[in-house]
Amino acid sequence: MNITMVGSGYVGLVSGACFADFGHSVVCVDSNRGRIEALKAGRMPIYEPGLEALVAENVRQDRLSFVTDLDAAVAQADAVFIAVGTPSRRGDGFADLSFVYAAAREIAGALSGFTVVVTKSTVPVGTGDEVERIIREANPTAEFAVASNPEFLREGAAIADFKRPDRIVVGAEEARAEAVMREVYRPLYLNQAPIMVTSRRTAELTKYAANAFLAAKITFINEIADLCEAVGADVQAVARGIGLDNRIGSKFLHAGPGYGGSCFPKDTLALVKTAQDAGTPLRLVETVVAVNDQRKRAMARKVIKACGGSVRGRTVALLGLTFKPNTDDMRDAPSLAIAAGLQDAGAMVRAYDPEGMEQARPLLPGVAFAEDAYHCAEGADALVLVTEWDAFRALDLARLHAAMQRPVLVDLRNVYRADDVRSHGFAYSSIGRPTGPGEGAETLQAVEDAVAAADP
Ligand SMILES: NC(=O)c1ccc[n+]([C@@H]2O[C@H](COP(=O)([O-])OP(=O)(O)OC[C@H]3O[C@@H](n4cnc5c(N)ncnc54)[C@H](O)[C@@H]3O)[C@@H](O)[C@H]2O)c1
Repeated sequence: MNITMVGSGYVGLVSGACFADFGHSVVCVDSNRGRIEALKAGRMPIYEPGLEALVAENVRQDRLSFVTDLDAAVAQADAVFIAVGTPSRRGDGFADLSFVYAAAREIAGALSGFTVVVTKSTVPVGTGDEVERIIREANPTAEFAVASNPEFLREGAAIADFKRPDRIVVGAEEARAEAVMREVYRPLYLNQAPIMVTSRRTAELTKYAANAFLAAKITFINEIADLCEAVGADVQAVARGIGLDNRIGSKFLHAGPGYGGSCFPKDTLALVKTAQDAGTPLRLVETVVAVNDQRKRAMARKVIKACGGSVRGRTVALLGLTFKPNTDDMRDAPSLAIAAGLQDAGAMVRAYDPEGMEQARPLLPGVAFAEDAYHCAEGADALVLVTEWDAFRALDLARLHAAMQRPVLVDLRNVYRADDVRSHGFAYSSIGRPTGPGEGAETLQAVEDAVAAADP
C-alpha cells in the first residue's frame, strides 16, 4: 500500500516507520522544514528507543521517505493519515483542531483516485464529519472516504506498542474504507492483533474514554496514597492487593506526582468539554482533572515539608524532568509545576534528566542544569526523584550522602526502600507509605534531628 503520513511527530513518525517496516511504501510529510531536513539527514527530532535504527533501515530499503510538500505524496496514496497535533485550545481547554482542519484542506486539493483519509490524531467526536465536509467543499469531485483510527501507543514503548497493539480501532462508514484499513493493518492482523471496526464517532470516543479511564485509575491510587499517609497504611501494598484482582488489573496503579504528558491532560480536558457541550457532563472526569491539577503543585509543598517547612535560600535538586522515563517529552510534566512551586517558595532549583534537558531548558527559567545525578546532588539541601528513569533506580546512596549539604531524599515514585535509604543517613519521604524518622517533619530542626538520628 502507498501510505502518506501528514505530521511527523511522535505518532506520525513512529506509525510511518512501523508501516514501512510492515512493507508498505510510506511518505512522511511535515510542515516543519527543520524537522524534515533532520530526518533526511538521519537525525531523529524526538527521543524514542529503537526509532533511529527503524527509520534508517526503512529509508535504506526505500520504503520510507520525508518531504515537506504533500501534493505528490497524497496523489499516489491509498491512505492518507492525519497525525498532526491537537493541543488544548487556549482559554477553554477544548481540543484545538486548527492543525487537523488545515491538513484536511491541504490534502483535499491533492487527492487523486479513491483515497481513505484517516484521522490518527486524537480528535473529539464529530471531527471526522467536519474533515469530510472540508474536503468535499474544497474538492467536490474527489473520491474519498474519511475514517478514524485512533492511536494508543505509549511514548517510551511506542514501537513495541505499535507493532503489538492490544487492539486496533477503526471507525469507518463505508466498506471501501474498511477494506483499505484492513489491508493497511493486515501484517498485524496476522499477528492476531484484534481489529475492531466501529462507526467513526464510536472510534473517536473510544480513544478519549480509554485515556480518561487510565487517568482516573492513576488519580484514584494517588488519592488512596494520600489517605495511606494520613492513616499509616502502605499504598504499594494496597495497589498490589487490588491489582491482583483481574477485574481491576495492576497497571496504572503506581502512586506518584500526578499524570502529565502530551495526552492525558489535554484529552481529559477535551472530553470534559465535549460532554458538557453534549449536555451530559462527565462529573467523574471533571474531578479527575481538578484533583490531578492540584496534585502537581502539592508535590512542591510535600518537598517543602520534607525540608522542615522552608526551602528559602536552599538548593533543591530534581532528578528526572520528563513526564515519564524513556522520552524527551516535557509536555505537562509534573516537574514543571514542582520546580515553579519550589522557586516560588524561595528555593534554588537544580535539575538533571537523561534525555529531556534540551526540551526542558526553555520551560524552566531560572533552573540550573547538571550533567548527571551526582553533580545535581552536589551541595543540595534536598534531592527529589521526580521521574523514575532506570539511571536513578540504583543510585549510590553513600556517594549522594557525601555530596549533599543536607541528606533529604524525597522519592515521588517510590523507587527506594525506606529502611535502606534511612540506613544511609537520609531523611526520606515517599508517596503513600508509612512515615518514619524525618518524614512529615514540621521544622528545620526536626529534619536536622532526623538526619542526625539516622546517620550511621
Ligand atoms: N504522543 C503520544 O504519545 C500520542 C499517543 C496517541 C495519540 N496521540 C495523538 O496524536 C496526535 C499527534 O501527537 P504527537 O505527539 O505526534 O504531536 P507532535 O506535536 O509531536 O507532532 C505533530 C507534527 O505535525 C506537524 N504538522 C502540523 N500541522 C501540519 C500540516 N498541516 N502538515 C504537515 N505537518 C503538520 C507538526 O510540525 C509536528 O511535527 C495528537 O492528536 C495526539 O493527541 C499522541
